[in-house]
Amino acid sequence: MTQPPPPTTPWWRDAVVYQIYPRSFADSNADGVGDLRGIIDHLDYVADLGVDAIWLSPVMVSPQADHGYDVADYRDIDPIFGTLADMDDLITACHARGLRITLDFVPNHTSEAHPWFAAALAAGPGSPERARYHFRPGRGEEGELPPNNWRSVFGGPSWTRIIEPDGSPGEWYYHLFAPEQPDLNWQHPDVLAEFTDVLRFWLARGIDGFRMDVSDALMKDPAFPDTDDGKPVINKDDASGVHDIYRAFRRVLDEFDGDRMAVIETGADPATVALFLRPDEMNLAFNFGFTRAHWNAAEIHAAITSALAANSDVGAPTTWVTDNHDTVRSVTRYGSDLRLAGEYVPGLASGDYSGGGHSDVALGTRRHRAMALLLLALPGTAYLYNGQELGLPNVDDLPESALQDPVWLRSGHTERGRDGCRIPMPWAGQAPPFAFSATADTWLPMPANWQHLTAAAQRDDPDAMLTLYRTALALRKSQPGLGDGEVHWLESAPGVLALTVGGDTPDSRLAVVLNPNVAPAPVPAAVASWAAVLASDPDVRVGGAVAEVPGDSSVWLRP
Ligand code: GLC
Repeated sequence: MTQPPPPTTPWWRDAVVYQIYPRSFADSNADGVGDLRGIIDHLDYVADLGVDAIWLSPVMVSPQADHGYDVADYRDIDPIFGTLADMDDLITACHARGLRITLDFVPNHTSEAHPWFAAALAAGPGSPERARYHFRPGRGEEGELPPNNWRSVFGGPSWTRIIEPDGSPGEWYYHLFAPEQPDLNWQHPDVLAEFTDVLRFWLARGIDGFRMDVSDALMKDPAFPDTDDGKPVINKDDASGVHDIYRAFRRVLDEFDGDRMAVIETGADPATVALFLRPDEMNLAFNFGFTRAHWNAAEIHAAITSALAANSDVGAPTTWVTDNHDTVRSVTRYGSDLRLAGEYVPGLASGDYSGGGHSDVALGTRRHRAMALLLLALPGTAYLYNGQELGLPNVDDLPESALQDPVWLRSGHTERGRDGCRIPMPWAGQAPPFAFSATADTWLPMPANWQHLTAAAQRDDPDAMLTLYRTALALRKSQPGLGDGEVHWLESAPGVLALTVGGDTPDSRLAVVLNPNVAPAPVPAAVASWAAVLASDPDVRVGGAVAEVPGDSSVWLRP
């Protein structure tokens, strides 16, 4: 028998990747925290959804000061999530279902419990062990003041003073995030050697790729100068050396067959992001301009066109994302946005860790449905965050005693942090824990009124969010054009987004019209005769031409 020809397009260029936040996905051992066995138990659900791959937020050994983004052993699984054998089983279970599996990779900082940091504390000032991190003497007469004025992303100073082995107050170390997350010194050769080895460890086990945490922040200005606003000086250009690190990572990925990939997390502007996507560096970067865009056509349009233009210069696809574990859920965000830029309710911007405030969840849900069809049509890769397909809102009324995010503590209890988008998944049933766990004592409490949002409640409901995602993802697999080719913008009514995606022939193209306004909008003339194949508003009849697109809704049309 002849073998089928190898696919010419690497899988990640147009994949849909489903982010699993392991603590919150499914708990198999009744401790109230999700785990790897729980993921395996629910993998058929993920495969049925129609996604191509999963990404797991960190599951390596960690004291969980930042819920896994503080790694103490990069080559083992934290016992709260399971064992390496469970991970091997999960890899096998994914591949058996045709799913790829990617892991979070955290190179900017270790946990304070990492053996390197323990050795650095023990070894004393000026030692080679300290050189792997950023230790500096303090300012002031007794060294009692931090070495500079940089602020931590999570609030408070980004320096913490240590007690030296002899018991005296000593040097300070730098942490971009929490004190439990000391930043590594990427100018030190040990660091690259160690992390390339960690990549190989997971690639050899069958991991298909990585999500690179805070990937653009590895190179701080080694002079650590004070800044006007206390923001750190992080260098991202070629001279900084950061791109040499990603080139080294690329070479490691390419040592393995099967199109192993990496997606980077960076909030930089599109041109800077594109530097990391040059052919000898990483594959994908989340388009956070799209995530941050408010509910109006101009902002969404700008986020699409700027990223497409910058990425096409380096031949990289664009990666569309509305939701993740750091961002107020978009159902809540879009329900709080006013229609004009700058008029949204403060504290609910995406990428803002605070949450809280007023949101019309029904309106936000309607808009989220509309956005889902744009997200899943645009050419490139789409990332979904667990619970997005159920239309979960952010939970902004957690009791203060339940809050877990280090942001809450570090901000002096002024910012609630990201717990509201990390509530455990409601699978079935009428009351918490909604089959997430056998214990009602889940790591974050679940709202009592989520019975209509469970996967089981939505499964057979034609109008449910889950059904919209499943239908859209099935069409993305079967219909030409979706997720592929080039964006062509169509003339449309003011404030309406209308575009086609797909190949060069009309038959291979698909139109998306998204109307973020209140009033219905006419379907643009160029595609007025095309037939609706899917609409976010359940009242729009699909199968034939439609005259108009209702407000806060979207539609897919084919010739
Ligand atoms: C990234 C992660 C976030 C984490 C931070 C520090 O932004 O997405 O969850 O807190 O890095 O590792």
